Parts: sequence; C-alpha cells; structure tokens
Amino acid sequence: MEKKITVAFAGLGSRGNSYADACELLKDKIEIVACADIVPGKLQRFADKHGVPAEGRFNSAEEMLEQPRLADVMFICTMDKQHYGHAIPALEKDYHLVLEKPASTDPRECVEIARVANEHDRHVVVCHVLRYTPYYRKLKEIIDSGVLGKIYSIQACEGVGYWHMAHSFVRGNWRNSDETSPMILQKCCHDMDVFLWLTGKHCESVSSFGHLSHFKSECAPEGAHDKCTEACPAYAKCPYSIERYLHHAKEGNFGWPLDVVSPATNYDDFRRDLLDGPYSRCAYKCDNNVVDHQVVNLQFEDDLTISFSMSAFDQRGRSTAVMGTEGFINTATDESKITVTLYNQGIESTIEYDTHAETDQFGHGGGDYILVKELIDLLEGNAGVASTSINDSVESHVVALAVEESRVRGGQLVTIEDYLKSIEA
Ligand SMILES: NC(=O)c1ccc[n+]([C@@H]2O[C@H](COP(=O)([O-])OP(=O)(O)OC[C@H]3O[C@@H](n4cnc5c(N)ncnc54)[C@H](O)[C@@H]3O)[C@@H](O)[C@H]2O)c1
Repeated sequence: MEKKITVAFAGLGSRGNSYADACELLKDKIEIVACADIVPGKLQRFADKHGVPAEGRFNSAEEMLEQPRLADVMFICTMDKQHYGHAIPALEKDYHLVLEKPASTDPRECVEIARVANEHDRHVVVCHVLRYTPYYRKLKEIIDSGVLGKIYSIQACEGVGYWHMAHSFVRGNWRNSDETSPMILQKCCHDMDVFLWLTGKHCESVSSFGHLSHFKSECAPEGAHDKCTEACPAYAKCPYSIERYLHHAKEGNFGWPLDVVSPATNYDDFRRDLLDGPYSRCAYKCDNNVVDHQVVNLQFEDDLTISFSMSAFDQRGRSTAVMGTEGFINTATDESKITVTLYNQGIESTIEYDTHAETDQFGHGGGDYILVKELIDLLEGNAGVASTSINDSVESHVVALAVEESRVRGGQLVTIEDYLKSIEA
C-alpha cells in the first residue's frame, strides 16, 4: 500500500478544523497523526473526531514541538502573532508547513521564515486560499489567455459585510491590531496576494487612507447598553444586535460563526455562552481599533495601476474589474460567473464563464479543500497552478504592511524599495 502523508495540527479552532475536514475527505492519501490545542475540550473533540491516538495529543503547540518530528507536515493554525514562534521550530525539525496567514505580522519574521524554509529545503504553503478557488483560477486563466490585451487598470473591492465585520473585527479575534494584525494584513493580504498572482507583476509603490469610523462609542444608538440584550432600547433596530446569532441558533444552524462563539449545539447552552462571552458586547463599545473602511492605490510595474477598497458596509464579497486594451472583466465572487466584454472591431461581445464548481460547498469557495488536495500533489512532486511559495507570500505581506505604513502616515506615498530598506535597517 502507498505510504500516506502524515500531518500534525497546531491550533484546533475554526481553521484547523476546516483543513482537518478536508484531510478526512482525502484520507486514502493523508492521515492526521498528531494535534495540539491549549483548550482541552477542543483537543479532545478534534482528536476523537479524527482518530488521533493518545500519544499524538498535546496540550500546546510548544509541547508538540518538543517531540521528535511526528509527521511530514505541520498545519499551523494558531493565532497571528504565534505563527512565527511555531513555524521556526517546526521548520528546524524538518516539517513541511501549511501556515495560516499572516505568516507573521512582522515583515522581518516573514523573511526569516522564508530563509529557514529554504535552508531546510521545506515547503511552506501559506494559506492564500483565494488562489485555490475555482473562481479565481478561472479569472487567472482568462487574464493569462491574453484576450483582454494589455491590462493597465484593475479596480477591486473587498466587501467584508456589516455582520462579518461586527463578528470578527469588532467583537471577535481580529478587533485589535495590537493583539493580532491590521485589517489590511489580516483580511486583505489575500487581495494583495491575488493582485500579484493574477498579473504576474511586482508592486512598486502604494498609498492608502482608512479609518475606524463607525464601530466606536460616539456612534452608539442613544441609551445603548454595554451588553447586547433584549433590555437595550436599541435592540429591536440595531443591525448588530445578537438577535442574528440567536436566530441561527433557533434554526439549529450552529456552524460558522456560531461555532466561534460556543461549542454548544443546543439553543439554551449557546445563549448562555453568548451572554457570558465577548460576542454579546455592544458593537459600539468594544476594545476594537482596526479600520472599518480603507482605500489603497497600488502602482505596479509596466504602468499597471490598481485601486482597492475594503469596506465593512459592502455586501458583495470580492468584486473585481480588470480593464484591458481589448476587453474588460467585471465580476464579483457572489455571482458565480465571470463576464468578459471584448471590443472586437468596435462591436462588443460578451462571454460568460460559469465558475460554479462541485468544491464550492467547502470553506472559502472550495479553496480550503483544494489547498489540501494540492498539498498532496506538491509533496508527490506535482505543483499545481496555484501553489504558492513562501517567497511569494513574503511579497504580499510586505505590500500589505507598506500599505498600512502609508495609512498610518496619513496617505503618504511608500515605495516598496524604501519600505524594504527600512525593515532591513
Ligand atoms: N486563510 C484564511 O482565509 C483565514 C481565515 C480566517 C482566519 N485565518 C487565520 O487562521 C488563524 C487561526 O484562525 P481561527 O479562526 O482558526 O482562530 P481560532 O481562535 O478559532 O483558532 C486558534 C486556535 O489556536 C489555539 N491555540 C492558541 N494558542 C495555542 C498554542 N500555544 N498551542 C496550540 N493551540 C493554541 C486556540 O485555542 C484556538 O483553538 C489566524 O491566524 C487567522 O488570521 C485565515
């Protein structure tokens, strides 16, 4: 029988579980042999579900990393600022890595991860999941075919969505950049990565403005309570009231985002955990500091200009217009299709590409599953079209952090060359 690829998981939260479910579907090729989390309940649930033996269960990533190498690959799905501390010892133990993004919040650490990976000749797949989705692959295929002529402009928006914003970036894990990472790195390093990948060009300079304008106490409805309950006078009309969580719990939908709030799968326990925890704080009275809207201008080589906008209040998912000398694309991820308009002889024609795929049902438009599937291909020596090296990831992180530098400096132009020099200094 063919030897299976063995994997260990560090961090058994939302991301760890999603990739583990993908491994389960590919279990004739890949086997989970070790796992670690600091929350005993998460460790037990994960290990029992995936049949991890007692000797492969650890109370922290650190404890797991003290062991001799346990598997071929380690999935690092801990929190943003922990990635570096887990990635370096894992690479030194000769694990290949699937590393959640951001690889690190410090550009020097990103470079160091790449250095150690190259020194140990290990693959580091950073989870830029968009590259793995059928939707973005079709977009790349169309661009690469050359039908659009020369591309000089791209306009892209990331609609985070009002409710996702409140859940993850106001009340939740990524609300405060001092604890995790700035919005442009946390949420939009995917977009920076996709721009580099889709165009095959490098970014030269950036400028950006952005603010936290809405999710702060000055904007709270009059008389709003600190805790979101039916007793709050704003409850009935507030878009961010916990009613949305409770509604899903009543319907029995305990998947994301409810599973982030509580492991409970019955209404009463879920409601109790929600009211006891941070996700029932008033969305206007949290300790959040990440921006709720940001615009970015990116100057790429060959005169390509890209404008990008992230907004909490845009519900379209990601939308992209690609403007070429012979045609253009206007598309959004929530449409499951890409429309290409061609300018042939002044008589425009449109072609619609259906991007719906069987893998759509998996997390991130199918990206989570395909990433694991192509990890197997990569380790078997067949790199897929989307396989991304740690060096590519460093570039996207550097661009995102240079954008943040510009935003913090009130929109000043930051060249990538100067930014790189500043971090080397
Ligand atoms: N690729 C993507 O599109 C994408 C999407 C969302 C999140 N992320 C990233 O994935 C990472 C994880 O996010 P998540 O949503 O799964 O968060 P999560 O909070 O659900 O999971 C993190 C897990 O790490 C565990 N943990 C903390 N310290 C640990 C330690 N020392 N050893 C072992 N386990 C430890 C926590 O208990 C928790 O279970 C974050 O860095 C996040 O930025 C990536």
